[in-house]
Amino acid sequence: MNKALLIFFCSIFFCATAKSFAIFPTPKEIKHQSGFFVLQASSAIIAHQPGEIENALYLDDYLSSHCQLRLKILPATNTTSIELQLIDTNESTSLNRKESYECVVTPQKVILKATTKVGLFYAIQSFIQMLPNRAVDMKVKDSITIPCLTIYDYPDVAYRGMHLDVSRHFFNVSEIEKYIDLLALNKMNYFHWHLTDDQGWRIEIKKYPLLTQVGSIRKGTITGLYPGNGNTNEPYGGYYTQDDISTVVQYAAKRSITVIPEIEMPGHCSAAIAAYPFLSCFPDSVTEYPKECTWAGGPRTKKEVQQTWGIFKDISAPTTQVLNFYHDVLDEVIALFPSPYIHIGGDEVKTDYWEASDSAQQIMQKEKLKDVSDLEAYFINDMIAYLKGKGKRTIGWDEILDKDVDTSAIVMIWNTKKKIESEAVNYKHQVILAPSNYFYLNNLQHIGDTALMYKKPILTLKDILSFDNDFMKQHSAKLLGIEGCLWTEYIPDWNKLLYFVLPRLTAIADKGWNFNKKNDTHYKDNFIDHLPELMAWYHFIGY
Ligand code: ACM
Repeated sequence: MNKALLIFFCSIFFCATAKSFAIFPTPKEIKHQSGFFVLQASSAIIAHQPGEIENALYLDDYLSSHCQLRLKILPATNTTSIELQLIDTNESTSLNRKESYECVVTPQKVILKATTKVGLFYAIQSFIQMLPNRAVDMKVKDSITIPCLTIYDYPDVAYRGMHLDVSRHFFNVSEIEKYIDLLALNKMNYFHWHLTDDQGWRIEIKKYPLLTQVGSIRKGTITGLYPGNGNTNEPYGGYYTQDDISTVVQYAAKRSITVIPEIEMPGHCSAAIAAYPFLSCFPDSVTEYPKECTWAGGPRTKKEVQQTWGIFKDISAPTTQVLNFYHDVLDEVIALFPSPYIHIGGDEVKTDYWEASDSAQQIMQKEKLKDVSDLEAYFINDMIAYLKGKGKRTIGWDEILDKDVDTSAIVMIWNTKKKIESEAVNYKHQVILAPSNYFYLNNLQHIGDTALMYKKPILTLKDILSFDNDFMKQHSAKLLGIEGCLWTEYIPDWNKLLYFVLPRLTAIADKGWNFNKKNDTHYKDNFIDHLPELMAWYHFIGY
């Protein structure tokens, strides 16, 4: 068939499937126009400067792996083209927000325009969502028809993150990269990597090799819903070398994503204590676990990595030796992660051992602290100051606000609406909203969901989309952004992970991108109506 005829048939086909693509997160403005742009093997990507060329390479890789088109990247061309334009801020007032972009599709060319590299990257993300259904539906490999349109877009909040717990279950580097790809496709910009917890320490620290040699392996894992009906009686482990970490950080950076490491303290650190018992207030005591759970590996005689889920009393001591240990760990973490933020946990700290420990009590006397709550603030403030001295800002879970901690710390709020309001007002901290009843994707998706053994609350797409916090809209200076979380106690592998995150991750991304949008039924219905296209796209690109 000659090219003109082919384009004619493509156009007719397109008219019949005009609604077969959708762009997520929903762009702020999208204007459809008549006519089509036809992308074919002879088309070129136009790029001049480094920020354009890096983005051009990303786009070309996508087109090659998903649309069987390998285009030339040129400074100019006579053929149809996709032109990447990184422009000066004073050339466009509408694009002076850091992450804003424009996408203009005309019959002759596609112009993807922004004032920053990240804006250009987001323009590409919107552009590629116009492609795949076409390629699949038409079964045409050498040309793809795209409707003429104009998009102008920008996010409402600066921080749009997704968390992953790799302690309860480990995900390898290639899975982490696929997870990061998902974030990038959804224009999220932070990956919060929960690297340490009671059930496994997963980051190599050269000064303390036992953290991974001992702390990354548990002798078994409870089976079934907590407290469990037995134990796997099989060792479970895995960790990232520092080279692995650098690989991931660089991979993410190419996708405009900053990786934030989380090193949990002073609680949730049984794995670290198993490796270095001096971290505990009671180094010689054996690891405790709930009576109802089954333990693998025979009688316990010393500290061990936890095999069950929950909150444990054996926490890090508040001594100078232990604080220095964490400073050393953070030194290596800081060297690996260029992120301006480091997460230090701070949630669910049981202070019974501090109450019972002479050394903890002596520190309280010396520092004139009235109770263990003050002692907790002392511990957290020490880390905030240490990180500040290294040019980093601390993030902590919202429990750190039950104490008096330095206001430079950012608080990740996972508890209730009431907490969101009281904390943001009373403590003057910047906040990231990660409310567990809206943004925890380890909740079940629907009634009768058999993918999980436990009865967590149901969290539907509509529930996520219903999250609307007028209070934070009014106090937007305190709102850094939002984050979805995935805790993996019951998510042992990649397939199950995908089941939990798709498509709900996209709803969280939309919430962040469109935080200020009126949260009416039209917003929710529009999202739900386009789910088939979204899921077809995920399927098409290999998820
Ligand atoms: C948390 O879910 N414990 C932060």
